[in-house]
Amino acid sequence: MCGIVGYIGQKEANGILIDGLKRMEYRGYDSAGIAVLDKGSIFSLKRVGKVMELAKAQTKFHHHGPIGIGHTRWATHGNVSERNAHPHLSDGNRFAVVHNGIIENYLQIKAFLTEKNYRFTSDTDTETLANLIDYHYQKAPYLSFAEIVRKTLLHIEGTYGIAVMSKIFADEIVVARKSSPLLIGVGEGENIIASDAAAVARYTRCVVYLNDGEIASVRSDNFSITTLHENAVDVIRHELDWEIRDMDLEGYPHYMLKEIVEQPFVIENAMRGRFTADGCSAKFGGISLTPQELRTVDRLLFCACGSAYHACLAGKYLIEKYARIPVDVEYASEFRYRNAPLQRNTLVFVVSQSGETIDTLAALHEAKRRGYTVLGITNVVGSTIARATDAGIYQHAGLEMGVASTKAFASQITILSMLALLLARIHDMDAIAGLQYVQALKSLPAITNEILKLSDPIRMIAEKYYECERFLFLGRQAMYPIALEGALKLKEIAYVHAEAFPTAEMKHGPIALISDETVCLFIATQNELLDKTMNNIQEVKARGGKVIAIVNNDCIAWEVFCDEVLTIPEVHPGINPIVSVIPLQFFAYYIGILRGCDVDRPRNLAKSVTVE
Ligand code: M6R
Repeated sequence: MCGIVGYIGQKEANGILIDGLKRMEYRGYDSAGIAVLDKGSIFSLKRVGKVMELAKAQTKFHHHGPIGIGHTRWATHGNVSERNAHPHLSDGNRFAVVHNGIIENYLQIKAFLTEKNYRFTSDTDTETLANLIDYHYQKAPYLSFAEIVRKTLLHIEGTYGIAVMSKIFADEIVVARKSSPLLIGVGEGENIIASDAAAVARYTRCVVYLNDGEIASVRSDNFSITTLHENAVDVIRHELDWEIRDMDLEGYPHYMLKEIVEQPFVIENAMRGRFTADGCSAKFGGISLTPQELRTVDRLLFCACGSAYHACLAGKYLIEKYARIPVDVEYASEFRYRNAPLQRNTLVFVVSQSGETIDTLAALHEAKRRGYTVLGITNVVGSTIARATDAGIYQHAGLEMGVASTKAFASQITILSMLALLLARIHDMDAIAGLQYVQALKSLPAITNEILKLSDPIRMIAEKYYECERFLFLGRQAMYPIALEGALKLKEIAYVHAEAFPTAEMKHGPIALISDETVCLFIATQNELLDKTMNNIQEVKARGGKVIAIVNNDCIAWEVFCDEVLTIPEVHPGINPIVSVIPLQFFAYYIGILRGCDVDRPRNLAKSVTVE
């Protein structure tokens, strides 16, 4: 979703701004723009479409200077057009603003400012902010830049991450946040502000994250942060924990493929240092709860969105199976508003790759408001969710650039599987079973490496079916969330309608969809119920449907009844969901490629969803 970048230092801002915008392309956007301060005036350049278009236009843009702001926009208010792209300048061009989030009372503000003769040239909520800043400047020109922005923000309802520059205050950028991420990349004689660390990582590894309700005045050689209510803030500097090479394709045609292939390594990273010395259980340094405290937990609640929600659902099956603790999984967007009844000794987890998803953050706040301990599982160190939870577990999956989550999803289920083991060992699981579970987890990197070899066979299957328009994904128990994830990947990447059901649910309705134009993907790696699954496959075949089965044994019936069979290794049930998802990721990837889709930047999607 929208990206913000800003530069103040000694170098020419244009190139750094465009590079920063390119680094944030993976988040999803539809137009881009920059503004620079040149010889006392603000000049802006905007283009609809890719940052590349902006970069091309920039070669003929003859305005340069060491201070500027840039933005990639994901349209909310007003269509996709240059007029609506950011930065937005105030009437009279004194201030320029880039903004992520939504200003909910913008219509009232616009009406107020129109009365005061302010002119508007866009349909956006952001332009009202630029003009309101100007209005407050006109009212009190003696105030500092940060004070003018502060006064303005006190009138704003909604969410924002903003960066503001001005021709009046030519040596300063003011930034502020409320529910939309912002950070300052601290450099030598220069500072870069951004909504995503990817935009600053080439220039500095030292970042300071702004918290909600904070405002900062950033100059080339210093910055100061206070709260909107003028209280002092403890500034904490973080070191970025991922490698610059995560941002490069390293010879792969797409980030999605690169990230699928990285999974053995990512899974190993998720487990590193997290087994107990006796080799029979898992441990997480980030969870501050003692075994005694964990024993008192009667119920778990997981809140998440999208793929992270599917990971939680897989975690539910594993935790309930092994630890025998009831688990609820809620869409964070539902939980935040529905006042769900919660049992007293419930431990709440929020799970989010980006650590910035607004619904997940809201669910976190809701659970905390109600007095629950909230732990986090997130990939981004220092992200808002990481900082707002009581404690948590980092995924260490490295920066995920593909909009569709692959490696982060695998690492989330790996962690949840380890959590199932940890809780099971505290409850009823004996040491031998614990040892076997640990051995299974440790075998994951090698097994997932084996599964990566299915890439070519899966591509060949995709070549046969890529023109089909109807896919059903079916799986039982812990494979049901994997079916959901497989269907989500296909929808996101290839824009094909795909649905997922628990296998046995097919005959309760979805079977009506089966015809010779329907492709059913059975994730049939749940061997306890093989005969039942075989019956379901026959039901599809009897109605002319096509069957692709992912299996883990060499039962002769697969070849007889299925159109395509992909065999993966048979593994411990605690790691089965992790290995079963990889073929589905490849499948979505190849279908997307064959249909000519932009698999790394699917239409309408954003990497982290920071607006409601
Ligand atoms: O960053 P998060 O894990 O909180 O993101 C949650 C969802 O927005 C995300 O998983 C989304 O569904 C992805 N596009 C999945 O590929």
